[in-house]
Amino acid sequence: MSTQKTAPHVGREQWTGQLGFLLAAIGSAVGLGNIWRFPGVAYENGGGAFLIPYLVALLTAGVPILLLDYSFGHRFRGAAPTVFRRVGRRFESLGWFQVAISFVIATYYAVIIVWAIRYMFFSATLAWGDDPTGFFVGDFLQDAGTGLSFDFVGGIFWPMLALWLVTLTVLGLGVAKGIERTVKIFIPLLAVVFLILVVRAVFLEGALDGLNEFFTPNWAALADPGVWIAAYSQIFFSLSIAFGIMLTYSSYLRRRSNLVPVSYVAAFANSSFELLAGIGVFATLGYMAGQQGVAVGELEGITGVALSFMTFPQIISMMPGGPVFGVLFFASLTLAGFTSLVSILQVVSAAFQEKFALSRVQATAAIGGLCAVISLALFSTTTSLALLDTVDKYTNEVGVVLSAILSCLVAGLFARKLPELQAHLNSVSTARVGTWWRVLVGFIVPIALLYMLISSLVTLFTEPYAGYPWSFVNTVGWGVVGAMVVAAVGYSLIRWRRPVDDFDPEALDRKATS
Ligand code: ALA
Repeated sequence: MSTQKTAPHVGREQWTGQLGFLLAAIGSAVGLGNIWRFPGVAYENGGGAFLIPYLVALLTAGVPILLLDYSFGHRFRGAAPTVFRRVGRRFESLGWFQVAISFVIATYYAVIIVWAIRYMFFSATLAWGDDPTGFFVGDFLQDAGTGLSFDFVGGIFWPMLALWLVTLTVLGLGVAKGIERTVKIFIPLLAVVFLILVVRAVFLEGALDGLNEFFTPNWAALADPGVWIAAYSQIFFSLSIAFGIMLTYSSYLRRRSNLVPVSYVAAFANSSFELLAGIGVFATLGYMAGQQGVAVGELEGITGVALSFMTFPQIISMMPGGPVFGVLFFASLTLAGFTSLVSILQVVSAAFQEKFALSRVQATAAIGGLCAVISLALFSTTTSLALLDTVDKYTNEVGVVLSAILSCLVAGLFARKLPELQAHLNSVSTARVGTWWRVLVGFIVPIALLYMLISSLVTLFTEPYAGYPWSFVNTVGWGVVGAMVVAAVGYSLIRWRRPVDDFDPEALDRKATS
């Protein structure tokens, strides 16, 4: 006799309509990746040269995997572990791997939002004085490098706590009342704030030099595999694909939902926002280069954290109307980041609700609470900067890329679900996906990604990332990847608290027809 508990059937949460879903999908996609990550990655990888691999990555992997996530989530109606379990018992661990990736990303994503919130206030008074770098690393972060001295930094701890409380409240309110209502306010607000910012930036003196740098192709850079790897990683992070988000979000859509056109609109909106961010940031860099009398390509401190929290404050101090510009810039980061953070955590919460028969509030409090505690304990401390940088690198370049490869392989080679998923997409949508989609997801994308992953691994094993000590990158970087794998396997071995089809009214119907 089965000892599994049969929970009473509870109707699955739903978006109120397609617009709500679309805004939530855009809210998830448009995030720190667009504003904080993309311009720096583009600058580092050849400026104008980067746009070509970026667009190729968007069309060959971004959109196809977005469609894959949507079709998995909508066809099999669940969080990532539920979906992969329904695809086949042995694939459940891939779902938990995606949950683990989201859990890890959430822990450090929150801290960047907190930095942005603090910097919104710092901008108003140009609190960083003459030395924005010294201020950020010293006064603000009290950075202890890789020394692993975990002392709390008060200026970060309390805002982090507040951010987590707000985030968990939104999640606790649910998909329609919490997430959808938030994005319906935040996304239009973000669009307005960001447009004002970009328009201001392009009218700065020297802006044109920055834009030339952004749009002039440098064909030689295309021969560098590193540029292509950076483009594909950026697309995955930016579109929120291959780590459970779009899969989970699409599972809350009604049965007849126009998935294919919606995925095109979401991808187009995300990339438009990303290009807009590139225009705004490069125009601003053009201004800075002009003031310093150097070429745009020779500027320093244009990558990652340094760009937003060291270089931008420097520019804000120089430019006319800088404080207003600064407030708008950091407000954009905060708004964009918040709607993405919520989506990342929903992946985790939904998975635990379904496998362990928890209510939404129980799962949010327990799992969101644990994530908040880890985030506070690790990223509100004096070691936060090096830790964040390393965890971000390994999670994205190893974790997300591996997850994307495995998703394609499960759909194509192992479970042979691509015809079913294609038929599903076409049956619910007004636009159709053709054989091209199966060819891309079944063969081309996994092969290209495997090549990318191997190249990344070779680099990670031969050069210590960012010059950090080997002991640090090995413990933190591989420690995180190892923990994600252990969690993935471990959770997939635990018994379901209710039969996996119990909470899916359409599952039996699907079984009968497939
Ligand atoms: N897609 C989200 C971002 O771009 C995670 O930040």
